[in-house]
Amino acid sequence: MATHESYRWRSKSRGDGLTRRSFAVLCAAVPAWAADRAPETSSFDLSLVEDSVVPNELFFVREHFPEPRIGAAAWRLALAGMIDSPFEISREELIGLPRTRLAATLECAENPPGGGLVSHAGWEGVTAASLLDRARPAQAVRFVRFEGYDGYSRTLPVELARESSVLIASRMNGELLPAHHGGPARLLAAGRYGMDSVKWLRKIELLESASAQGDEYVRRSRSLLTGITAGEPVGPVLIKSAFTRPAGGAVFHGRRFLVRGVAWGEHPVAKVEVSTDGGTTWSLARVAKAERFCWAHWEWDWKIPARGQHVLMVRATDSRANTQPLERESKRIDPYEQNSCHRVEVTAR
Ligand code: MTE
Repeated sequence: MATHESYRWRSKSRGDGLTRRSFAVLCAAVPAWAADRAPETSSFDLSLVEDSVVPNELFFVREHFPEPRIGAAAWRLALAGMIDSPFEISREELIGLPRTRLAATLECAENPPGGGLVSHAGWEGVTAASLLDRARPAQAVRFVRFEGYDGYSRTLPVELARESSVLIASRMNGELLPAHHGGPARLLAAGRYGMDSVKWLRKIELLESASAQGDEYVRRSRSLLTGITAGEPVGPVLIKSAFTRPAGGAVFHGRRFLVRGVAWGEHPVAKVEVSTDGGTTWSLARVAKAERFCWAHWEWDWKIPARGQHVLMVRATDSRANTQPLERESKRIDPYEQNSCHRVEVTAR
């Protein structure tokens, strides 16, 4: 059975906080981590889904810059900006604080239908809100900027940063957070696309206004009438589903097959349906426990009607009645929010 290979993508985004020039200066100043490493992007092979969590060593990786090498002893997270009590916290102090647990699926905003830039883990850490409280923010604070040791950053509205689903995570699947996934500590913004979950946290800055986030992570459309237009920023994860078996290209000799997959989004999954006739009719799949922020496993018994080529399609609907589109809007030219139906083509012999 064919499986998706891990693959590397070109690096491109600087988040909202690092210009090309300042990145070059940073690289010159810190050659130890920049010189000999390339940023990694590797996907998770969805056919390997077994339990609800993806083991840390298989969890997808998306880096825009080379992974910074930060000794645990030297690592500090600074709270700065419009606050009464600026402070720095060490790794020992952070991991010693009372922890909150959160199970959450993380998906990269650029993950294509059926792609493996999505995985699920159990995360532990302190809420970002608890550190913000300790810093005693000024009344005027509206935004919080999270910056990583690689210079990447994202700025979130303060109300969002204070939600209980936003953690400073220091553990992943019961282990200390691996360096690949942002250790010693990363932001984990459950229900939001992965770009907001800043890894290798170095600074949390409270601000009255946000500098422009650039044209990264913004919807862009092209039309004959208006040309190219930039729209809303992307953020919440749209409802989406994928087959974990069969993989595209599979060949069956029997007449029954247990089709399986996962479905996820910002809101809990309400139903999953499979079509074998190009989307004309849909059959309900059985969905195992559906919880907010967590991918749900589903399965469907396929009675294979005839020999030949078949195309299977899957779509999910969430608790707010949002359903995946059959096709992506043709006017969209950005690479984000690709939540149209996943299709696999298989052969019955
Ligand atoms: N944080 C930093 N500091 N640098 C990065 O390049 N990539 C972001 C986010 N946080 C990134 C980052 C993106 S685009 C994604 S999808 C997630 O990290 C991926 O997290 P993972 O590599 O642990 O799967």
